[in-house]
Amino acid sequence: MKLLFLLAFFQFNILLSHSAIYQSPNKEDKQFWHEYNVNYLKNILKSQKPTKVAKNVILFVGDGMSFATITAGRILKGQMQGKSGEETKINFESFPYLGLAKTYTTTTQVPDSAATATAIFSGIKTSTRTIGLSNPTINAKEHERLPTIIDWAQEKGKRTGLVTTTRITHATPAAAYAYSFDRLYECDTKVPNEIKSHFKDMSRQLVENKPGKDMNVIFGGGKDFLGAHDIFEKNVVQFAGPSEISCDRTDKVNLIEKYLQQFSNETSVKYVKNTGELLAIDYDNVDHVLGIFANNHLEYESLKNKNPDGQPSLTQMTEAAIKILNNKKNQNGFVLIVESGKIDHAHHQNHARLALEEFVELEKSIQQAINMTSSDETLIIVTSDHGHNMIFNGRPKRGDDILGFANTKNGNNQLYETLTYGTGPGFNYHTKNNTETIKPLEEYSEKQRSHPLYMHQSMVPLIESTHGGEDVGVFSDGPGSFLLQRTFEQCYIGYAISFASCIGPVADMNELCKSKQEKLTSDSLSLKMSISPMLLSAYFIVLN
Ligand SMILES: *[C@@H]1O[C@H](CO)[C@@H](O)[C@H](O)[C@H]1NC(C)=O
Ligand SMILES: *[C@@H]1O[C@H](CO)[C@@H](O)[C@H](O)[C@H]1NC(C)=O
Ligand SMILES: *[C@@H]1O[C@H](CO)[C@@H](O)[C@H](O)[C@H]1NC(C)=O
Ligand SMILES: [Zn+2]
Repeated sequence: MKLLFLLAFFQFNILLSHSAIYQSPNKEDKQFWHEYNVNYLKNILKSQKPTKVAKNVILFVGDGMSFATITAGRILKGQMQGKSGEETKINFESFPYLGLAKTYTTTTQVPDSAATATAIFSGIKTSTRTIGLSNPTINAKEHERLPTIIDWAQEKGKRTGLVTTTRITHATPAAAYAYSFDRLYECDTKVPNEIKSHFKDMSRQLVENKPGKDMNVIFGGGKDFLGAHDIFEKNVVQFAGPSEISCDRTDKVNLIEKYLQQFSNETSVKYVKNTGELLAIDYDNVDHVLGIFANNHLEYESLKNKNPDGQPSLTQMTEAAIKILNNKKNQNGFVLIVESGKIDHAHHQNHARLALEEFVELEKSIQQAINMTSSDETLIIVTSDHGHNMIFNGRPKRGDDILGFANTKNGNNQLYETLTYGTGPGFNYHTKNNTETIKPLEEYSEKQRSHPLYMHQSMVPLIESTHGGEDVGVFSDGPGSFLLQRTFEQCYIGYAISFASCIGPVADMNELCKSKQEKLTSDSLSLKMSISPMLLSAYFIVLN
């Protein structure tokens, strides 16, 4: 077992080193994925045509939200309401369209969030650990950041927002606005010296570069990374994964101040740092709100301080974001990304309860968005960046505690859990002082097993559990949702958004995108024709 553990650690370190491990068999570059997306779109359009444009887009990403997470999360939601659980409904299961996204990256079979979020937001698949760049040569001086749905929306005068429960520079949110050869370059101390002259850390990119600095809503954690560490933050049970990083900027720049200073005094800008301040915003009149609620990631929902001086829930952040993006100062619609980022963190530590509770909160925030918008003009997409390796085992009975036992014993007369993991720290957690003897589940008290940081059993000892490589669900409702059917490469999601909402690279393929412009032109033409039809026919005769 010691050997296994060493092996696991060795592999982990390989993962932590730089990206491209081997060359993919195809030339999977920008052009390749662009063509794939366009062809997929054309194929779908053969059987159905759009009837409406999506004025607004809300994209929910459950980080690590595998199908097992959705099913078990649905059961937990029901059981929290005192029901059996299995029959419970979650809101997005009644969305009219469901597709499956293939999540592999150009370098790995099982992906990470950097590459998958880049695929979703920019429409281009890339290498694992890379953000906003198409298969870059490590640390190349020449680079071209891939534009995302946030850039496209801003070009069309739409408001834009980004909400997450992780720090705002973490892989998934960063892919919306930044580029990086490696996802770790969130802090100036993490950027290798040899590239410092031509590369700035992603925290600076957020505050100093488009499209980050022009976003209307930026909600998440990461004060450390923005150089504004809050020494008063207390009682935090942070995600304690071994790959977790912190930041103590050597440049000592306070990027929150820098962000606020760059706006003209005509623009209404606000910085908020807790729930009370978030709820007190004058939503109708504000243009830009930066909400940074934690030094690093936000706390797990069930462990949060729910008072005004605490951290807001994902639902509260979603509500505030929509109010700001859709306020009376905005007529052009908006694009909002909402990430539930800690489903993934909990799974990595085999904390099944926390992962499912994060899911329940995500589902609530989706309800908030449904309540505040109309499917006539708002496209809502619910998806995941990648799966995880939580396993949903047989044979529990109806109504058995989803976080409990499978109500039976295995061949060795040993009780086992309904939810276990393929890999992760749960293996050693359940052995007696790291010997090979597994402590029987009967020996845990009810209190121990219901502790939020209790770990479920895992098959293979790894200091951090791995992601899953299976396809993820893409549930959608609203204008253009029909585009997200069947099984497609994950990067197609970005192009479906482009087409549906008349922003970005394939807006031109959508006849409805032209209609506004053309309607004006053809109206003036018919007016001219009614004034002088004789003149017009004379003109044709001369031409002939
Ligand atoms: C905005 O800034 C300009 C230039 O610094 C100044 O002249 C003006 O008085 C300011 N307006 C307000 C409302 O503060
Ligand atoms: C959404 O609206 C329903 C019906 O009005 C209400 O019961 C529910 O609490 C709302 N949910 C949220 C999250 O706002
Ligand atoms: C592990 O070792 C400690 C100290 O030797 C002991 O108190 C504890 O009971 C052991 N735990 C198990 C599960 O055997
Ligand atoms: Zn992860």
